Order: sequence, then C-alpha cells, then structure tokens
Amino acid sequence: MRPFIVAIDGPAGAGKSTVSKLLARRLGLSFVDTGALYRTVALSARRQGIATDDDAGLAEVLRGIRISFRATGEENRVYLDGEDVSSEIRTPDISLAASAVSARPVVRAGLLGLQRRLALEAPVGAVLEGRDIGTVVFPEADLKFFLEANPDVRARRRYEELFQKGSESSLEAVLADQIKRDRDDASRAVAPLKPADDAVRVDSSSKPLSEVVQQLERTIRAAMASR
Ligand code: DC
Repeated sequence: MRPFIVAIDGPAGAGKSTVSKLLARRLGLSFVDTGALYRTVALSARRQGIATDDDAGLAEVLRGIRISFRATGEENRVYLDGEDVSSEIRTPDISLAASAVSARPVVRAGLLGLQRRLALEAPVGAVLEGRDIGTVVFPEADLKFFLEANPDVRARRRYEELFQKGSESSLEAVLADQIKRDRDDASRAVAPLKPADDAVRVDSSSKPLSEVVQQLERTIRAAMASR
C-alpha cells in the first residue's frame, strides 16, 4: 500500500511548520518541509552568483544540487551537499529569494520529483508542508488541509520566531516582507497559492496551534484507521 499522504498548505506564518512537525511526530509519519527545498535552491543560486530570474542558471543549480533532511531529536536539519544550512536558509534575505525562485517554472518542475520521492519513501506515511501540495504535488493526497490566519497574527508569529533566533528585524519589516511574499506567492502563474477544492480549511487566528494540532490529529487518525 502506498504511504498515507497528508498535505498541509497555506501562507507564510499560518503555523504550518509547527503543526506539521507535531503531527508527524505524534502520528509516526515523516515530515517533508517543501519550503526548505525552495530555500536551499535559492541559497545555492545565491552562492554561485546566479540571479533569481536566470532560468538557465537555475536549471544548472538544480542539476548539481544535493539536498537532504535529517531529523535530530526535536529538530529537522537541512543539508546542501552535506553542509548543514538549516539556519542560513531562514534569513529574511533568503526568504525573499526563495519566493522569487519558486515563481520560476524550471525550479518548480525540478523539485517536483524530489518532493514526491521524499514522501513515497516514507515507511508509513508523510506530512508534506507547502503551498501547492494538495493542488500539484499530491492532488490524490489522502487528506488535505489549508491553514490560514489573518496577516497580523501571521506576522507576529514569524517575528517572535525570528526574535528567538536573535534576529533584529522589526515587526513592521516582517509584516512588509510577508505582504510582498503573500502577493508574489498567490499571483505567480505556476502553482499559485490557493486551497485545493477538497481541502479542509482551518483558521488559526484565534486559537492556539495546540488546538489546531488536536483537531487535525483526530481527523487524520480516523482517516488512517478507515483506509
Ligand atoms: O514555507 P516557506 O516559507 O519555507 O517557503 C519558502 C518559499 O518557497 C515561499 O515563499 C513559497 C515557496 N514555496 C512554494 O512555492 N511551494 C511550496 N510547496 C513550498 C514553498
């Protein structure tokens, strides 16, 4: 039987990472952070001096790139050609570059096979977190969720997260970056951010993420049991 696939899509800061990681751990599923793949491509391009709109250069980056994940305790580390780049791919600068490269069809096509493989290799199943998992990567996912929250709540969550990591970005700067990324992610021609028709929409603006996790966990357990 093919692994059980859970798609979790939504805009930046809606709580996807926290929720997906916890769900994966509680349900014994693998966690696939697809945003980390776009971020790592952006970092590799940046290091090689390749512009975010240079399709030929990006194709070259994709041909040579080796990205891997390793779960170490609570954390999911990301490796680029064997080097741990987990922190470096989370800077505000690489966030914007990731959004820019993610609009290039050559990058989306180049990462499609890898995203599917990472999930299908999972022994039991996988929780994939991203923007187009339910619409493009796994339209036939067993369960699809679209996580939302209002822009102020999302910016504050992202700000707190960056603050904890020692970043000096202001809340205003985080909100401005988020507005730009939301607009770019939702308006791009290929695989724009939008809920799949059959996705369960969950708004986390006014409830703690622990409650969201419990709600999703119940739904997933029921679906896994009845498969
Ligand atoms: O989830 P994230 O913030 O780590 O994602 C980084 C960027 O990658 C984000 O701006 C949108 C893009 N992305 C995407 O286009 N499709 C995905 N499945 C995941 C991320």
